[in-house]
Amino acid sequence: MTDNAPLAGKRVLLGVSGSIAAYKSADLCSRLSKLGAEVHVVMTSSAMHFVGEATMRALTRRSVMTDLFDEPHSDRIAHIDLAQSSDIVVVAPATANLIAKMAVGIADDILTTCLLAVPKSTPLLVAPAMNSLMLEHPATQHNLATLRDRGVEILATGYGVLACQDVGYGKMAEPDEIVTAINLMFSNRGDFCGKRVLVTAGPTREPLDPVRYIGNRSSGKMGYALAQAAVRRGASVILVSGPTALASPPGVELVRVQTAEQMLAECMKAAPDCNVIIGAAAVADYRPAKVADSKMKRQSGVSITIELVPNEDIIAALTSHRSPGQFIVGFAAETDNVEQNAARKLTSKGLDLVVSNDVSRPDAGFDVDTNAVTLHWPGGNSEDLPLQSKLATADHILTRIAAAMSHV
Ligand code: CTP
Repeated sequence: MTDNAPLAGKRVLLGVSGSIAAYKSADLCSRLSKLGAEVHVVMTSSAMHFVGEATMRALTRRSVMTDLFDEPHSDRIAHIDLAQSSDIVVVAPATANLIAKMAVGIADDILTTCLLAVPKSTPLLVAPAMNSLMLEHPATQHNLATLRDRGVEILATGYGVLACQDVGYGKMAEPDEIVTAINLMFSNRGDFCGKRVLVTAGPTREPLDPVRYIGNRSSGKMGYALAQAAVRRGASVILVSGPTALASPPGVELVRVQTAEQMLAECMKAAPDCNVIIGAAAVADYRPAKVADSKMKRQSGVSITIELVPNEDIIAALTSHRSPGQFIVGFAAETDNVEQNAARKLTSKGLDLVVSNDVSRPDAGFDVDTNAVTLHWPGGNSEDLPLQSKLATADHILTRIAAAMSHV
């Protein structure tokens, strides 16, 4: 199965309303078409102030509906036809006004009329875009809740500088996030569908003073690959990550932290709702006992001693607070005695699976795109996975986790 196969041949009704984010719907349109979807665009007159009909027509190679009284076929009513024959309806961007109309059922233009004619069984995805005050307004929140209760999938908005220069939530989800969400709605048959997965990733930074820290060489690639693979298989994923240079995988809820203590706090908060927990982070075992308030000064020729105190073992803390049925996986990054160390970590941390890797190998260590890991199971069984991309390794690990969970 290819990642994007769910979209091939699917009929997508893409509704575009009047927000500056409408320019991104041209990109969305292009991506959906490239993935093999048959995209039919319906635009409000306000949307056309932001993006041209000709752009959407060129991207889809189909006429764009902009007027309720545009009827290309005398024997059929185009907007009813389109609403009823679509496999999915996506509204991106959805303004506060459009969301309000959807909530109360107003049909006063081509898009709202189409939306009112969409059968209940057709999945409907809405990507809001608006100023943060408009988004937070109780009326908009109430309207979004009404749509959610009706089974409409509402995508979260992003945080940042908005078109009005205010800073806050309200930015439309990025086109790749919308594509991921659409894929998920079609691929609800993934083996992690309905499962919540917590992944830790990356290094932690333990500060010494405002400019220095103790860190490690973890790039976070393995943890991010696990998060990405789990989303593609239908899971809802929270990724608690130390500082990395990696972008958030589409569809993943990313929580960024710096220190082991912050990572522990975020994991303890998220863990009770999770079915699977995977500790791929390279957590610092120790942190400086004292963090200087201002930059420590060099004293020529004088040695200094830094006292380190132990950090809590996050994955062990999670296993000792395990919710019923939770499956908890640890990693073991080793340079020697891989087998023995992995077996010891399996027992001492109370894990269901340990994934070990020999980080002294140039093709399986830090900051490379490949990995060669061994899976260690309670009872002593182990399995060597081949050298492969970190994404393929992630998929392999998830396949084994899914199989182990189905035997419980
Ligand atoms: N881990 C953790 N919290 C820590 C240390 C480790 O959650 N404070 C987790 C890692 O995310 C990984 C597993 O424990 O899943 C093993 O991490 P590793 O660094 O290999 O082992 P340690 O327990 O730190 O032991 P050592 O450093 O002695 O090898």
